[in-house]
Amino acid sequence: MTRALSGIQPTGDTHLGNYLGAVRHWVADQDVHDSYYCIVDLHALTIPRDPGQLRAKTLETAMILLAAGLDPARCTLFVQSQVPEHTELSWLLECVASMGELRRMTQFKDKTAKGGETEARVGLFTYPVLQAADILIYDADLVPVGEDQRQHLELCRDLALRFNHRYGDTFVVPEALIRPLGAKIQDLQEPARKMSKSSESPQGTLLVLDPPDVMRRKIRRAVTDPGTEVRFDPEGKPGVSNLVQILAVATGRPPAEVAASYDQYGPLKNDAAEAVVELLLPLQERYRELAGDPKRTAAILEEGAAKAQRVASATLARAKDAVGLLPRGRVVG
Ligand code: TYM
Repeated sequence: MTRALSGIQPTGDTHLGNYLGAVRHWVADQDVHDSYYCIVDLHALTIPRDPGQLRAKTLETAMILLAAGLDPARCTLFVQSQVPEHTELSWLLECVASMGELRRMTQFKDKTAKGGETEARVGLFTYPVLQAADILIYDADLVPVGEDQRQHLELCRDLALRFNHRYGDTFVVPEALIRPLGAKIQDLQEPARKMSKSSESPQGTLLVLDPPDVMRRKIRRAVTDPGTEVRFDPEGKPGVSNLVQILAVATGRPPAEVAASYDQYGPLKNDAAEAVVELLLPLQERYRELAGDPKRTAAILEEGAAKAQRVASATLARAKDAVGLLPRGRVVG
């Protein structure tokens, strides 16, 4: 069975882009691949976070993933910091990565564009190396992600290939699994930008836990494009195409067919809003049940970490041995 691994940050709130670009595929993939899903709390520390908030959001993110349909009997769901092998492998990979290739990462460039590099945390720079460790430590074949992670995945492959070349075959070289539809959901207010947890436009970010009326309002107020024609053309008509894409993914129809059934923006918006509400309501109901018993989720995460750690520690031992670190417990002399 092929193995899949993916991760999500427990920062901000989980939004429609996360759900359509990643989480719904994780749910569908559980029976197809040996699946590992990780809540990457260490990645969240690369920008300032309130400790209490981080703890609460980590548990909330786990509940959202369970509510979306991840089933601990069919996948391994865990929190990154509870498997400390990730950070140890990250160091070995940092000693294989170059400053130049990390400097080329567009997410680092974007995130330091405003404040400059001087004040940026070193962790923001080395972030993609830890991400590579998350993946390589599970011998993952596939990494289901949205479009914005493509460059990080290419770096991960480069690091795996370089490590294998230098130290002998150690890591599986993974492939990004980016589905054509839903991999790039745009901000509802600024359709030229991706929907993002760190967005400054709360009206443009539809959260999976938004009450139905809020979801409807956000979609009805979505910025559209000049003219009245509805067509699927992400370059020429980014606002309308985003709504068409959302409706297409939510209803499982091809976007061109969805676009062809509308000749005005209003009905498209109404139908997109209803489809999203219908898609997310079951998740919200299950979330409310889970939120009533946080200990249950914490226990699921503990079990997930124990299972993940068994795989991670074996890969880490292999990598340490490959680079020449002296194993403990070996009698010398
Ligand atoms: P994060 O937390 O930003 O996003 C989680 C997943 O959601 C996808 N996504 C989107 N898909 C479509 N449209 C959007 N607007 C949109 N926004 C986000 C992301 O592509 C991602 O799949 N660095 C990663 C977390 C990570 C990771 C990993 C992922 C850490 N280690 C190992 C895979 C493997 C991140 O910040 O994702």
